[in-house]
Amino acid sequence: MATSSNKDNLFQYKGCNFIKNIHQLEHLEKIHQFEIKETDVIAVTYPKSGTIWMQQILSLIYSNGDLSVVQNKKAAVRVPWMEVPINNFQDLPSPRLCVTHLPYRLIPKDLRKGNGKVIYVTRNPKDIAVSLYHFQNYVTFLESPTKFEDFLEEFIDGNVIYGSWFDHIRDWYNHKDEFNFLFLSYEEIKKDLRTTITKICGFLGRKLGEDKLDIVVEECTFKAMSINPMANYKHMESKNQNGSFLRKGIIGDWKTLFTVAQSEKFDKIFQERMKGFPFKFTWDSK
Ligand code: A3P
Repeated sequence: MATSSNKDNLFQYKGCNFIKNIHQLEHLEKIHQFEIKETDVIAVTYPKSGTIWMQQILSLIYSNGDLSVVQNKKAAVRVPWMEVPINNFQDLPSPRLCVTHLPYRLIPKDLRKGNGKVIYVTRNPKDIAVSLYHFQNYVTFLESPTKFEDFLEEFIDGNVIYGSWFDHIRDWYNHKDEFNFLFLSYEEIKKDLRTTITKICGFLGRKLGEDKLDIVVEECTFKAMSINPMANYKHMESKNQNGSFLRKGIIGDWKTLFTVAQSEKFDKIFQERMKGFPFKFTWDSK
């Protein structure tokens, strides 16, 4: 269930929370039947895990480092959201690039046949919670949370956009063998952008010369994206003039909002819900 603080802004479809001003039931109902082509690339993220970063990285890899592409077209036009009806990714010329926050159960069935390529990007959930808390205080289409303490409960219970982080990652990861699948983390991209971009190129079968790679890396830094209005969503209506989609872009910002007690409680829940999950999350920048 969507929470009381969010109930005016969200609606549910098949147990997942969507945004009234952005998503449409009719579009969501069609996604299952979307045709997926061999050349399609889908970056999958839970919100606040680096989606717009992937939009920038994929655009530049596929344009072979052509800066005019990321300087003249908004990210959501170049690499649209699968679940958002405007800028429908199905109308793009191939190779089609898109992002999605959809849970595994709502994706096109064609994707499960191994068509296309899937890049799943995860991020440590404490940083996601803090990033989402600030995001809700920034954008007009979501309710500003009252206190972080209350918001954290909602995040843990999955009463936020797109539902539970725990379910999202577990469901996608458990089914990874159904896809051409690359699993990445926000933290590894942050720690070594160049190596990660090279890894993504390898997975996608794209080759970038060293000079082009330099350009792509430079243009995907937090600094470069922060000043590129086509990459940073500055055009989005906001409630807070000082806020930003590209807020801090660091690992470990959860320490600015979590109390020791909240952190310990979260760790306990994390241990239970992620038991046996074969990935070691990075919680700070050291
Ligand atoms: P913070 O709020 O912690 O700064 P999404 O695109 O999935 O909504 O994720 C947004 C988060 O990714 C924000 O985190 C944003 O700053 C971060 N991000 C986006 N591009 C980035 C980049 N080039 N380098 C580091 N972080 C980036």
